[in-house]
Amino acid sequence: MTQATASSNSPHFSRRRFGKAAIAASALSYGRILGANDRVAMGYIGLGNRGDQVHDAFLEHGDNATVAICDLRDDYMDLAAKKSASRGAAKRYHDYRKLLEDKNVDAVAICTPDQWHAVMFVAACKAGKDIYCEKPFSLTIFEGRRMVEAAAKYKPVTQVGLHRRSAPEIRKLAEMLKAGEIGKISAARSFHLRNDWPVGIGNPADSAPPSKELWDAWLGPAPAQPYNVNKTFYNFRWFYDFSGGQLTNFGVHYNDTMRMLMQLGVPRSVTALGGKYVVNDNRQIPDTLVVLWEYDNPATGAPSLNSYEQYNGNGAPGNIRNMELEFRGTLGTLYMQNANWEIVPERNHSIAPKPRSPLDRDESEFRGSFKPAMAAKQGKGSASTAFHTRNFLDCLKSRKETNCPALEGHLSNVGPLIGNIAHKTRTHLQFDAKTERFTNSEEANKYLHYEYRKGYSIDL
Ligand SMILES: NC(=O)c1ccc[n+]([C@@H]2O[C@H](COP(=O)([O-])OP(=O)(O)OC[C@H]3O[C@@H](n4cnc5c(N)ncnc54)[C@H](O)[C@@H]3O)[C@@H](O)[C@H]2O)c1
Repeated sequence: MTQATASSNSPHFSRRRFGKAAIAASALSYGRILGANDRVAMGYIGLGNRGDQVHDAFLEHGDNATVAICDLRDDYMDLAAKKSASRGAAKRYHDYRKLLEDKNVDAVAICTPDQWHAVMFVAACKAGKDIYCEKPFSLTIFEGRRMVEAAAKYKPVTQVGLHRRSAPEIRKLAEMLKAGEIGKISAARSFHLRNDWPVGIGNPADSAPPSKELWDAWLGPAPAQPYNVNKTFYNFRWFYDFSGGQLTNFGVHYNDTMRMLMQLGVPRSVTALGGKYVVNDNRQIPDTLVVLWEYDNPATGAPSLNSYEQYNGNGAPGNIRNMELEFRGTLGTLYMQNANWEIVPERNHSIAPKPRSPLDRDESEFRGSFKPAMAAKQGKGSASTAFHTRNFLDCLKSRKETNCPALEGHLSNVGPLIGNIAHKTRTHLQFDAKTERFTNSEEANKYLHYEYRKGYSIDL
């Protein structure tokens, strides 16, 4: 395999040319029946920033080996091959379809940019592979539903990379809140805070791609467009053809934790405001964004008001504990940062206040009745991805449902995706969970999917 060759405007894209022959969708490579002591044969599609982390998180467990790797970059594949060499040599591919045809592969990890997830996930289902797929599950609502249908039809074991779902400390919190630990929750807030002013990700000009084939392979189903180095490795998440921005990057983790801890479905309504107000780079996504969702909260029988606040022109704390998530209950407030948490008790009054009157300003009885509603509590834990990969490996063997199967991954992505649509249309949107369509805006419904480039499909 050739090494990556440096180019003038991207040190990343290899000039290596790939065979152009289209590879027909493979015949099913029926998965092996795995016993408890078997080593799972893993294939990786995408070994960049996250793929490398996921690979490490699988290698933390002894019962799997890396048998196949696929990426557009040879240097990334070199690193992955080196990391897994002690468990045998990994076969290298530049075309994921060839990896999917490899009968030695039991399961694949898909860690490519978001626009690729649906196409690769559906192809992996058809190829008979079990699938670990990174979040956000899909780029559009339509894709996510189609992926859920593919999983239901081909029945792979699926795990979506919302890895906090497998963290023991977070699972414990879910049980505590379910049992009413902080009372009735009326609101949950989340924050993505980082001051990117002034330069952000920089402002490189569009240019000729270092390799037409590689730019094409990067775009996948996304619309044809001029090459810009910021639309590629890692920085693609600031552009809507490849990502839903920080709202589906960090925001999908927050929304997933809210859904898990509050037992929520998908929002009944959403609105959002914000824009690119202060940062001077070529990003498309807002540097300042507030999204508000109304969820039906089964614990109260009423809605809850959940929010995502993104301040990328200012990094000041979002709340008094400077933690990314907060759950406001009638008895206490839960603050969370990954798997670390603290509950600050509420103080509730047991008698109603007298109406204020100029004739009697004594409020001592009312004020004296305030009592802490519960004891303060805190905990620490790890949200390591290794818990999530362990759960996936176990489920490959038991054929049980994982902690975040395709449907959960899709449902947790719905809130962020419709948040972006509300922002684009500047509307307060009503969402119907059954049809997964908006009921009060046909304009918004147009954003539920987009037209793939020719040659890309998620047909089942
Ligand atoms: N769960 C998490 O906490 C977490 C963290 C970071 C990223 N992610 C997700 O992981 C995904 C990848 O993000 P990243 O930060 O690793 O980006 P990245 O740009 O560092 O890596 C993406 C990799 O995909 C490869 N790739 C692109 N098109 C390909 C194709 N057609 N065939 C094979 N390989 C291809 C690229 O060469 C690159 O190495 C995104 O969906 C992102 O949201 C999840």
